[in-house]
Amino acid sequence: MSTTTTQDSDASRRDFLHVATAAVGAVTVGAAVWPLINSMNPSASVLALATIDIDLSQIEEGSQISVKWRGKPVFVRYRTQSEIDAARATPLSALVDGNARNANDLRADASDENRSIGENGEYVMMMGVCTHLGCVPLGDGAGEFGGWFCPCHGSHYDTSGRIRKGPAPQNLHIPQYTVAGTVLTLLDEYKG
Ligand code: FES
Repeated sequence: MSTTTTQDSDASRRDFLHVATAAVGAVTVGAAVWPLINSMNPSASVLALATIDIDLSQIEEGSQISVKWRGKPVFVRYRTQSEIDAARATPLSALVDGNARNANDLRADASDENRSIGENGEYVMMMGVCTHLGCVPLGDGAGEFGGWFCPCHGSHYDTSGRIRKGPAPQNLHIPQYTVAGTVLTLLDEYKG
C-alpha cells in the first residue's frame, strides 16, 4: 500500500516536472516570436534581416510598403484591379525585357502572371533597385506606366515592375520567396 503511494507521488512529480518544462518552453517560443510579429507592422517595416516574413494582410489595396532587407529596399504592393488589368493587357512584344527576372523561375517569361503573387495576382514584390545603376525608384503609380519611376536617368516601370522606357535594361528583380497563407517569406536575393 505504501509502495503504491510512493509510486503515485513519484509519477505525480514527474508529471509536474514535465508540465513545468513544457510551460517554460512555451514562454521561450512566445518571447522569440513577438519581435517577428511586431516586425510585420508596415509602419515599422524598415528592417535589415537575413530572412524576413511580411504579413500581406497588413497592406491596403492600392498601397505598398518598402522593407529594408539585406541592406536593400524591397517593394511589396497590393495592386488595384485596374493595375492588374493594365499589366495583363500588355503583350510580351511591348516589353523591353522578356524575362520575368523572378528568382523562383529564372526561365519564365515576363508575363504579369509570372511576376505577381496571389490568387488573382493582386500582389507584386520586387527589389527596389533600378536595374540601370541601382537607384531606388519612386512608386505608388509613378512614371508613364503607372508603376515605378527612377528619376536618376528616367527609367519607367509598369504596374508589374517591368521596364518600359528609359536606360534600365531589365525588369525589377524578384527574389526567391514562399507564401504560406498571408505570410510572404523572402528567402534569397535574385541571382539571375
Ligand atoms: Fe535608375 Fe539610372 S539608376 S535610371
